Order: sequence, then C-alpha cells, then structure tokens
Amino acid sequence: MRDAIVLENVSKVYSLSYTTTGVKNFLTHLPAYIKKMRKRRFWALKDISLTVHRGEAFGITGRNGAGKSTLLCLIAGVMKPTTGDIRIEGRVAPLLELGAGFHPELTGRENIILNGVLLGMTRREIKKKLPEIIAFSELEEFIDQPIRTYSSGMLARLGFSVAVHIDPEILLIDEILAVGDTQFQKKCLDRMLTFKKNGSTIVHVSHNIPQIKMLCDRVALIDGGRLREIKMAEEL
Ligand SMILES: Nc1ncnc2c1ncn2[C@@H]1O[C@H](COP(=O)(O)OP(=O)(O)OP(=O)(O)O)[C@@H](O)[C@H]1O
Ligand SMILES: [Mg+2]
Repeated sequence: MRDAIVLENVSKVYSLSYTTTGVKNFLTHLPAYIKKMRKRRFWALKDISLTVHRGEAFGITGRNGAGKSTLLCLIAGVMKPTTGDIRIEGRVAPLLELGAGFHPELTGRENIILNGVLLGMTRREIKKKLPEIIAFSELEEFIDQPIRTYSSGMLARLGFSVAVHIDPEILLIDEILAVGDTQFQKKCLDRMLTFKKNGSTIVHVSHNIPQIKMLCDRVALIDGGRLREIKMAEEL
C-alpha cells in the first residue's frame, strides 16, 4: 500500500500578538516588551508523526484548540511546519474552516471560479463543471449574490460542492459538515463514501464520533498539540 500523506516530527509555532497597557507604557518599557514579544511563541503542534495510506479515510478528533485545523492546514500546504517534514502524494482538495479561500464581495458563482483556480483547475474545467457544482450546492437562487450575504451553512455548501468536483485524490475536510443541515450532511457523507470507494484518500476533522465511525478507518486523537493515539474507528 502506498502512502498518501507522511508527517515526520512535525511541529508548528505561532507567534502571539501582544496587547499593551497603553502607548506611553509601551514606549517607556520598550526593551522589556520586545523581550516579552519574542517569548510569546505558542507551540500549536508538537512532534507529530503519522502516515495516511492511499485510499484510507483518516479521522482527526480532539478538543477545541487541540491543533486539528493547524494540522490540516499544514497537510493542505497553506502553512509550512516550523520543524519536521511533510510529504504528500496526490492532488489535494482542502476544505478548510468556513470561508477560507472565499472572497466576501464576490458572488457565489465567482467564488466557485476563484476557488476552482486556487485548487488547480483550469478555467475550462471549471466552466464545464459549474452547472454541476451549483446544482450540488442547491444554491441556484442565491448564486449571483455576494457571499457576504450567505449563512454559514450556505458557505459550507458552496465550499463542499467545489471541493468534491475537482476530483481530488486527497480530500481534506475540516468540520464543514457540522454547519450543514441534516439533508446536506447526508448528501456530503454519501459523496465522501463514494470517494472512498473509488480509492480517494480522505482526512476528516470532526467532533462527530458517529460520523467518524461511519466514514473513517482510523482516527487520531490530538490533545494539546500532541498526537495522543491512533485508533481503529470502530474502537471509538
Ligand atoms: N494564527 C494563529 N496565531 C496564533 N495562534 C493560533 C493561530 N491559529 C491557531 N492558533 C492557536 O493554535 C491552537 C490550535 O488551534 P486550531 O485552530 O488548530 O485548533 P482546533 O483543534 O482546530 O480547534 P477547534 O476544534 O476549535 O476547531 C489554539 O490554541 C489556537 O489559539
Ligand atoms: Mg478547528
């Protein structure tokens, strides 16, 4: 079995911004503040090593702030790890947290095109698939409105519809299903199961254990930026 995603000792540090107690105070204590700012580094992920096999559906779960989205962004290549190595084999369609990659002033239709281009489709491919993408989203009525007017569920529909229509070899999904209504969640799950059957690799971040069990083969539990364990999904 070939591997789709290999992470070796991956860590990610964020620099935290520092709030001061007023400009005057800030200026008089400038050297001290600079020292403090340098220290305000936060290890969102520490020493994560894992392998996702080709054709596997891999779940990631853990508490809020555990580092799941950070991990997915690293796999998507949106950010670089501070240390460690990431190897990806295959065309990736990341479906990150809501609104990532969307432009609020553009319409739904324009955002589909923008996203498609960002995800590596050619304009021709997108034009051809546009009707299908819009139909899957069920947003026909609103598709020429700027997406700042969309609800979070509508944005999720748009994002999911684009991602599944670029024929990804690796599909990354962050929580997005949580905001969809029941009917759309079911439609998305069905679509992901079809992907899996056709041999795509899926990484699915979720708090929804039944959903993970239904879709995933293995699940990683992330806790405080560390990989606590990897279990078979049925053992959850
Ligand atoms: N851009 C950033 N700058 C600084 N800290 C960040 C940044 N993004 C995330 N963090 C911090 O990194 C940690 C992990 O965040 P992350 O979004 O990966 O968590 P998560 O597991 O996806 O949480 P949730 O379940 O709430 O989506 C959190 O403590 C968060 O505050
Ligand atoms: Mg998250």
